[in-house]
Amino acid sequence: MNRRADFVIIGSGIAGLRAAVDLAARGDVVLLTKADPTESNTGYAQGGIAAAVGPDDHPDLHFADTVAAGDGLCVEAAVRVLVDEGPRYVRELTEWGVRFDRAPDGAIALAREAAHAVRRVLHAADATGREIGRALWEKARRGGRIEVLNHTRAVALLVEDSACAGVRYVGGDAGETAGEVRARAVLLATGGAGQVFSDTTNPTIATGDGVCLAWDAGARVADLEFVQFHPTALNVPGAPRVLLSEALRGEGARLLNAAGERFTGRYEPAGDLAPRDRVSRAIVREVARTGQPVFLSLQHLDAATVHARFPTASAACRAVGLDLARDRIPVGPAAHYVMGGVETDLWGRTTLPGLFAAGEVACTGVHGANRLASNSLLEGLVFGARAAVAMQQAPQAGALAAGVRDWTDVPGDTSAGPTGPPALDEPAIRRLMWDAVGLVREGRGLERAASALSAARAALGGPAPGPTPDQDWRLRSLVTVGWLIARAALRRTESRGGHFRSDFPERDDVHWSAHIVERSRHGSL
Ligand code: FAD
Ligand code: SIN
Repeated sequence: MNRRADFVIIGSGIAGLRAAVDLAARGDVVLLTKADPTESNTGYAQGGIAAAVGPDDHPDLHFADTVAAGDGLCVEAAVRVLVDEGPRYVRELTEWGVRFDRAPDGAIALAREAAHAVRRVLHAADATGREIGRALWEKARRGGRIEVLNHTRAVALLVEDSACAGVRYVGGDAGETAGEVRARAVLLATGGAGQVFSDTTNPTIATGDGVCLAWDAGARVADLEFVQFHPTALNVPGAPRVLLSEALRGEGARLLNAAGERFTGRYEPAGDLAPRDRVSRAIVREVARTGQPVFLSLQHLDAATVHARFPTASAACRAVGLDLARDRIPVGPAAHYVMGGVETDLWGRTTLPGLFAAGEVACTGVHGANRLASNSLLEGLVFGARAAVAMQQAPQAGALAAGVRDWTDVPGDTSAGPTGPPALDEPAIRRLMWDAVGLVREGRGLERAASALSAARAALGGPAPGPTPDQDWRLRSLVTVGWLIARAALRRTESRGGHFRSDFPERDDVHWSAHIVERSRHGSL
């Protein structure tokens, strides 16, 4: 069925819902979400949302920590927006009914996380994303003019006269319902792409669809080589790689090797609370040195407090027969967050007029080469709200905050159309990405991955016009985003933030203080 609306929002995580609150008050909104509305990375967010609201904090301190974690590549104008506007938007959340944990004196309780100079993380136990999503969902629905299409997947952007005019969608497992929504502005709020790796903390919806949609439409993507691997996902064979929040270490949990020794200090001066990429690599090195797994231990902490403060982690451990407070919990790195995405300016404008992006799918450059813990929920909140402002204005193209960095525009897309059956299935793609494009990368492996994924994309061809089963769309997104990550990682011949190359282990500011930006040769622009 075809529809017309003022605004289309694709995605019901924090970025999409925050934009929906404002847009539904100003026009007709159609919100597409490909699963149940609560199924999003936001719904699984544990540790909390960072904002300089504490008495010993200041946006300048939050700025300094964010830029330090970003390893020389943050777009500072974007960081300024995030840290300066963050406290206002977080206070607004409390006015809208978000129940953050409070200290006995009634003040908001702030947690410590890695690479934050002070306690700065507002949380609702260790299920913060679910609580924020609940309140935003209620607020957006109260706004009235919003039609929600659940289990409906955006599969292509409509591009007319070099601008985005709407979206094509399918619903049902066999793609049996299909239609278009035309609108004056479309927001990509489709979240991340962790599912492209075999080991990930992300739920099944995180397949990089927004990057694929934008790429096919000719919008630019940026910084895709920067993937964050969280150091402490549960590491029990056969069990899901459930996240064990960084807040656990913030509250005193320790990383231990199999001999029961603390080891991160051997590799990192900041030890267990160094930035995530560094702790993840310290784990890889310790596992290589000892040939044994590593563990998270809370055995020295009060058990009742641990279970009360971290019910999500506690339940995940119980599900595999472990007691979070009493047992040593096997952990290891897993793909967690993609710093890169669809290039936008500070108002969510992409390089395609009429198309906007916010949240994890977007790349404002705010995280640089590595994201500071708990800055992602804040990003979705702040830039979701800003995109809603820009969407009400005349469609125009944007780009990363101008003049700040030297971006390299490298066109090139080898997939002109279908040439045969896909060369790789989903498990093979995810394994290839983990092995060759994971935490430690090297030129030959990256070349192998980029070329296999390029061939797979060529075999899949362009977006199908008719009914197409859901798993085909999923595969198309995974192949596309995997290929773009592998290609950018191959191009960046240095190590920085989330991108580590064993053949180029040093940061190289002379050649690489720049962002890799690309767009499809076959796109519409
Ligand atoms: P999401 O919340 O992922 O929402 C994306 C939405 O888009 C979903 O509704 C999805 O169904 C929909 N969608 C996708 N593709 C399509 C399509 N083609 N058509 C229709 N709908 C589509 N960050 C923090 O700051 N603090 C934390 O404590 C924290 N903990 C985390 C814990 C876990 C386990 C994970 C996985 C992430 C965590 N993060 C955390 C990261 C953070 O949760 C995400 O980056 C953030 O929530 C992303 O929000 P979003 O709105 O951009 O996307
Ligand atoms: C965590 O709780 O460790 C995740 C926080 C984040 O991804 O920022």
